[in-house]
Amino acid sequence: MSFNNFALKFSRYLPPEQSNKFSLEALKIISHLNLLDALFPKKTKEINSINLMGLNFPNRVGVAGGLDKNANYFHILGKLGFGFVEVGTVTLKPQSGNPKPRLYRFNDQETIINSLGFNNIGAFKALKNIEKNKKNFDGILGISIGKGKDIKIDRAHEDYLHLMDFFKDVGDYFAINISSPNTKDLRNLTKDDYFNNLVDKIMNKREQISKGFSAKKPIIVKISPDESIDNLEKIVTYCKQSGVDGFILTNTSLDHDYKIPGGLSGSQLRHKAEESLKFVRSIVGQETNIIASGGIMTKEDALNRFKLKADLIQLYSGFVFRGNELLQDCLEISST
Ligand SMILES: Cc1cc2nc3c(=O)[nH]c(=O)nc-3n(C[C@H](O)[C@H](O)[C@H](O)COP(=O)(O)O)c2cc1C
Repeated sequence: MSFNNFALKFSRYLPPEQSNKFSLEALKIISHLNLLDALFPKKTKEINSINLMGLNFPNRVGVAGGLDKNANYFHILGKLGFGFVEVGTVTLKPQSGNPKPRLYRFNDQETIINSLGFNNIGAFKALKNIEKNKKNFDGILGISIGKGKDIKIDRAHEDYLHLMDFFKDVGDYFAINISSPNTKDLRNLTKDDYFNNLVDKIMNKREQISKGFSAKKPIIVKISPDESIDNLEKIVTYCKQSGVDGFILTNTSLDHDYKIPGGLSGSQLRHKAEESLKFVRSIVGQETNIIASGGIMTKEDALNRFKLKADLIQLYSGFVFRGNELLQDCLEISST
C-alpha cells in the first residue's frame, strides 16, 4: 500500500475536523524531515504552465478555498505539486465559526457537509503566516476574503475593501467569497440591491491598490451553485462589464437531502458544478477566466472540466478522499 493510501485510511478514523488538521500537520512534518518527495512521488510541477490574468501558473491544478484557512500550509501544498493555493477565507477579525459539530464526512458517498462559518485567525495573523511561508512557496497565491459574521449586509463592502488593503502586497489574486452558505446574509450580497454596488467598490479599490504596480491585482468572484439561472446571468454579466477577471464555479450547495445544516461538497456536487460552468462559459465567452471547483474526484472529472473550457481547476473534497494520487492524476490530465 502506498503511503498516500495508508495515511488516508488512518485519517478516516479521526473525527473530520481533527482529521483535516492531522493530515496537514503530518504533511508539514514530513516536509520538514525532507521526506515529502520520497513518500509522495510527484512527476513534475511545471506541466502545461499558463499565463492568465498576468500571472504565471506553473500548472492548472490548485487548492480550493477553506483547506488552508489560516495560511499555515500553502507552501507545503505547493511542494506536493499544486500550482496555486487559495488561502482563507479570511475575515478582518478572528472568529471561531459556528458551534460544533459542523463538519461531516460521508466516506462511502465521497461527500462532505460543512457549516464551519469562516473560522479563522483573522487578517492580521493570517498576513503574518503568509509573510513567513511565502518565501518557501513557488506557486500562485490567492487570498479568499469574506465578511465577518456580525457585519450587516449593507456595510459588508467595508470588510472586503479593508481586506484588499490588508493583503494587497502578498496576494497574487483576490477571491471574493460571496457564496458560502454558512455566514448569515452572505449569499444575499448577490441580490440586486447590493451586488452592483459591491462590485463597483471592489473594482475601484483594485484601481487604487494597483497604483505603482505594472499589473492590476486580479479579482475573481466565487459563485454559489444554488443561484437561479436569471440571477447567475445577471451577476456574471455585470462582473464581466465591470472588468472582473474571472469566476470560481462553484462553492458548496445547500441543495441536498442530508438532514444536517451546511453546504455539500464532493461527488454529489459534480453535476451542479459542471452545469454552472457550462452556463457561465456560454454567457461570458472565452476570454473570461473560469476556475472549476466542485466534485472533481477523479482524473475523468478533471478532464471533463477542461473540456467544458475551465482554465484552471481546484480540488478540495477529492484531495481529502484521494490525496496525492488525485493531484498527480490531475496534473497528468492537465498536460494534454
Ligand atoms: C470543510 C470545508 C470548508 C470550506 N471552506 C471554504 C472557505 O473558507 N472558503 C471558500 O471559498 N470555500 C470553502 N469551501 C468550499 C471549497 O473551496 C469548494 O469550493 C467546495 O468544497 C467544492 O469543491 P469540492 O467538491 O472539490 O470539495 C469549503 C469546503 C469544505 C468542504
